[in-house]
Amino acid sequence: MRTLITLVALLATLVICESKYQLVVQVANRGDLPLLRKFMSQNDFDTERISMTHTVDDETFNHFANSVNGPSKSLEQLSRYINVDLAPYDPKSNNNDQQEQERLQSQLLQLPFVTAAYLKSLPEDPTIVEDFSHIHDANQTPLFVEKQGYLNGPGGFNVKAIHALPGGKGENVKVIDVERGWTFEHEDLKESEGKVVYGTPASYDEFHHGTAVTGIISANDNDFGVTGIAPKSKILGSCYTNEKAFPNVPLSILAAAKAVDPGDVMLIEIQAPGPEGKVIAMEYWPDNFHALKVATESGVIVFEAAGNGDANFDSPAYNRGGPGFPADWKNPFNRSLADSGAILVGAGSSGNSTKRLYFSNYGSAVDVHGWGQNVASIGYGDLYRGEGTRERSKYYTNSFSGTSSATPCVSGCIAALQSWVKTGAVSGKKLLTPADVRSLLRRTGRAQEDPEKRIGNRPDLEQLINALKSK
Ligand SMILES: *[C@@H]1O[C@H](CO)[C@@H](O)[C@H](O)[C@H]1NC(C)=O
Ligand SMILES: *[C@@H]1O[C@H](CO)[C@@H](O)[C@H](O)[C@H]1NC(C)=O
Repeated sequence: MRTLITLVALLATLVICESKYQLVVQVANRGDLPLLRKFMSQNDFDTERISMTHTVDDETFNHFANSVNGPSKSLEQLSRYINVDLAPYDPKSNNNDQQEQERLQSQLLQLPFVTAAYLKSLPEDPTIVEDFSHIHDANQTPLFVEKQGYLNGPGGFNVKAIHALPGGKGENVKVIDVERGWTFEHEDLKESEGKVVYGTPASYDEFHHGTAVTGIISANDNDFGVTGIAPKSKILGSCYTNEKAFPNVPLSILAAAKAVDPGDVMLIEIQAPGPEGKVIAMEYWPDNFHALKVATESGVIVFEAAGNGDANFDSPAYNRGGPGFPADWKNPFNRSLADSGAILVGAGSSGNSTKRLYFSNYGSAVDVHGWGQNVASIGYGDLYRGEGTRERSKYYTNSFSGTSSATPCVSGCIAALQSWVKTGAVSGKKLLTPADVRSLLRRTGRAQEDPEKRIGNRPDLEQLINALKSK
């Protein structure tokens, strides 16, 4: 019998099975981690290989616990989460074994001190595959502003209206993007002071997505390349990947909130497969939800990509939590049940049409939409590659897409608007709160042409300014 167990254990270590999931456990008290370790060592789990760490480290926990009146309910709930990795982290593969994860999950759910144990889908970029068929090389980067239809009105966001006002180019605001990687040394981001505040960007291929996101918002106002919607805003990145550990989305969100001030802007540029197998927004998973709530409670305006799964967030599929979710979990896509405070962004057509794009998730919780196709920005290189085609600091795109491109469109508008509000231009308003911004975006802008699958309005900065002036 013993030989058989040894043999099975040996096979298990030799055959590295990839899993599409991470195992996340919530315990009754933050101090219960040793109980978990003890249980595993007594029950034949390979504790040499298994790593267990609190989702939120002590330093980050203390930062948020001390800055408000003690820990909020969401922070308290998030502080009890533990990430369980069955194998040492390997940046090339996700070497967690799904069968073993499920075996452990079902045993953990029997324990009195375990309040939740679920398999959480791995995060990915909410973009649509790009077309690289029109690549040009040249020496001097031309000006591409005429390709940025989204800067204009009425099909775009009427950005000139805010650029004409004091502070309206984003100079008083920081923006932080939560995802995988960036090219902060890009020639068109030089004045944005971009840097990574948390995590380790993964690899060369994974820089373009975040680069395009940051360009839409913060590309510099100069005579070459593109110009961002809030071109004088400062831009930062918080990376959910790490060279030493599996992804930690909640901690990357808290690290981002810690790096900015109330009224600053955060983007969540991540999606993952949900209960219907369609890719959905991060807040569905309870640990992510609590992290987003802590961020919005700290006054940060959080924009979250709705995801590209063509999913209906009003479907009953989202009323049931996943297996092993905490008993008090409620569907965050039904705002009367649970509300992270984040603003969900869907993807609409480029240009004058305000129709939903076929892939965009939709439903009553989707607050607002941006352009989900044909967005010109920095990165990728399908529009232009500067001299020395390996220098990604001179790459430009004309085809950034998905709820990935839609989210920075809206975030950029609010960064510019907030920066103007901070100059004292609106009487009785020092700063827009997350709730102010959501309400403004829902009651202004151009209506969606096909509202039966709701992605919300398209923001219009002139209307946003007028709504604040007439307060
Ligand atoms: C949201 O929840 C409320 C309260 O349970 C319910 O009345 C409503 O029908 C739900 N909305 C949707 C779209 O499911
Ligand atoms: C843009 O759309 C609006 C509203 O649907 C319409 O009135 C206007 O004529 C359109 N403009 C162009 C240039 O197509």
